[in-house]
Amino acid sequence: MEQRDSEAAAPTLGVGMVGYAFMGAAHSQGWRTVGRVFDLPLRPVLAAIGGRDEAAVRAAAAKHGWASAESDWRDLVTRDDVQLVDICTPGDSHAEIAIAALEAGKHVLCEKPLANSVAEAEAMVAAAERARQRGQLAMVGFNYRRVPAMAYARRLIAEGRLGTLRHVRVSYLQDWLVDPQFPLTWRLKREHAGSGALGDLGAHIVDLAQYLAGEPLVGVSALSETFVRERPLPAGASAGLSAPGGAERGPVTVDDAALFTGRLASGALASFEATRMAAGRKNALRLEINGELGSLAFDLERLNELSFHDHTEPAASSGFRRILVTESEHPYLQAWWPPGHGLGYEHTFAHQARDLVVAIATGTEPAPSFADGLQVQRVLAAVEESAAKSAVYTPVPTSVRASVPESAQTSAQTSAPASAQAQV
Ligand SMILES: NC(=O)c1ccc[n+]([C@@H]2O[C@H](COP(=O)([O-])OP(=O)(O)OC[C@H]3O[C@@H](n4cnc5c(N)ncnc54)[C@H](O)[C@@H]3O)[C@@H](O)[C@H]2O)c1
Repeated sequence: MEQRDSEAAAPTLGVGMVGYAFMGAAHSQGWRTVGRVFDLPLRPVLAAIGGRDEAAVRAAAAKHGWASAESDWRDLVTRDDVQLVDICTPGDSHAEIAIAALEAGKHVLCEKPLANSVAEAEAMVAAAERARQRGQLAMVGFNYRRVPAMAYARRLIAEGRLGTLRHVRVSYLQDWLVDPQFPLTWRLKREHAGSGALGDLGAHIVDLAQYLAGEPLVGVSALSETFVRERPLPAGASAGLSAPGGAERGPVTVDDAALFTGRLASGALASFEATRMAAGRKNALRLEINGELGSLAFDLERLNELSFHDHTEPAASSGFRRILVTESEHPYLQAWWPPGHGLGYEHTFAHQARDLVVAIATGTEPAPSFADGLQVQRVLAAVEESAAKSAVYTPVPTSVRASVPESAQTSAQTSAPASAQAQV
């Protein structure tokens, strides 16, 4: 990978990021890397990082390569050297920061889930639509769309290789809440996180299912459970997935697990499982999609591989085969290593940054848009409503203009040069 001359010559795009823990580190890595790997029309500059603790945010700026630090995000979103605000905070602050940034004339990248409620997400979509009129763009950080195998799966489905879809089956299993002594961090409090495994993991798999199928969920039937209802309060600073636990205890106000079935607009049936209670499963996002012409299967813990069964082949010799998604023809791979030299979790953040930078430079709507994020939020709300009624089938309003990819976009991507590729 060499730094291209065009990268040095390209106009700059000042990035300001709020939040500097897990996602802050991952996004920093993406922003630091993207311009050195991809041939970009704009050169991202890590202008400022924001947080609440002055000393900690300064330390984060030095560690992650940001030029300066702000201890109030309001000062960050109005800086002249910031054109794009990247929101890496818990869900309770997404709407306020995103709307302020859009109103200050900035492009916005917001981590998932878009918001903590449908009402907040609707306000964010309205702000994004107003900003769009002024030329600013907004995108949600559903980074698993940017795993090359997932983008390639979308391409195969859009090309009709699976025919009419029958089943979309997705689970996302983690185990960091199995220990009842794990402390009550923000992810376990409704006022901060909106919901539990549902909004954290379920949001990813709902987005992935709708993205891959190219159509929205129209109704769901759900069960959810909070297995451990009280946990130790954090004794010190907590950052998402870790904190020391103290002697005092408090109530868990979100779900530990959510299990739901759903129907896609075409009539295909979908099933979802999101849990942080699956002992031994660390980040196991697995999916299988069955169509009349074939099937696809994927496991995030083996993210360079995609399994494909072509049901049109003779039965005697057909069967699932493993595609190693590391060829230069595969999405994003042209910029990386020779075939077989795999990518990992962190690369999805460089891909996310690349797609947003290209969208900004070309003035095209990025995907997933805030409207896509609202659609996911509506599914999450329907899941909670259904679970509260012991799994009564609950329709999902689908009036929002979601940017589910079209096959035309997908085929355009295959022939466009790297710097001008459409969303994959
Ligand atoms: N795309 C993914 O794979 C992925 C993975 C993990 C988390 N997330 C999402 O990213 C977001 C952040 O999660 P995380 O794991 O990085 O959390 P974290 O606890 O590790 O970090 C949160 C950061 O936000 C800061 N913060 C919290 N409230 C703030 C406020 N009001 N103003 C300014 N800063 C504030 C904290 O100081 C910290 O730096 C959440 O929306 C989460 O759902 C996405």
